[in-house]
Amino acid sequence: MNITVFDNHEALSQAAAELVIDEIKKKPDLIVCFPTGSTPIRLYEILIEAYQKGKVDFSKVRVRSVDEYVGLSQDHPQSYAFFLSIHLLSCCNFDPKNIELINGAAQDPQAECLRYAQKLKEEGGIDLILDGIGENVHIGFNEPADQLYDHYHLESLSPWTRQVNARFFESIVDVPDQAMSVGVLDLLEAKTFLVLSSGKKKAEVWRRLSTENTLSTRFPASLLKLSQNVHCLIDQESASLMASDKVGK
Ligand code: PGA
Repeated sequence: MNITVFDNHEALSQAAAELVIDEIKKKPDLIVCFPTGSTPIRLYEILIEAYQKGKVDFSKVRVRSVDEYVGLSQDHPQSYAFFLSIHLLSCCNFDPKNIELINGAAQDPQAECLRYAQKLKEEGGIDLILDGIGENVHIGFNEPADQLYDHYHLESLSPWTRQVNARFFESIVDVPDQAMSVGVLDLLEAKTFLVLSSGKKKAEVWRRLSTENTLSTRFPASLLKLSQNVHCLIDQESASLMASDKVGK
């Protein structure tokens, strides 16, 4: 796991956008998983600006899911698919035939996770995945638990995650209690995994990551240390409690 600290959210978003554009230039048909959340919104604005200036071509990029709420169809305003569509996909020249997202509204969610995991396997795995990190130390929707999953799977959302994500819904009772999520091995085996973290509310996670020397399923973010393909782009506020000798390692 590599960590680079940037002055602020703007600088880390610019750096993330440059990395994404570089990866697309190297492999125009790469398989990429873009996240939801507040952190990547500025990155998406920068990617859209780059597209409008002719600096990046998304026409061959294959888009896959990080996660999705169980029970929400792709046109539901709180679905992963809808978020991604309005913040990025519909604003650039992504080809709809290259966008294949996991179906949150599938009749059999378990079977849908297995189908999607198999599909990604047949496609050769994820080239580039981006994700945030939860204040409760989750990665993707891999919540702290006694056991974690390898590939796409059903995840019961913790009360904490439902509470935090309630800001996107009318009320907490509307937040689904299950999600389909990328698994830990999907993240660690991706050719490049960019972790984005901004703000003081994440500082405790980075303090723990820089000071604790154990890996645990109760601390899913600690498993990021298993891969050298994990590149964490974090701002000064997120890094404010970190042990300074760990930055860059
Ligand atoms: P955020 O979400 O970007 O809204 O902080 C990150 C996460 O919970 O994984």
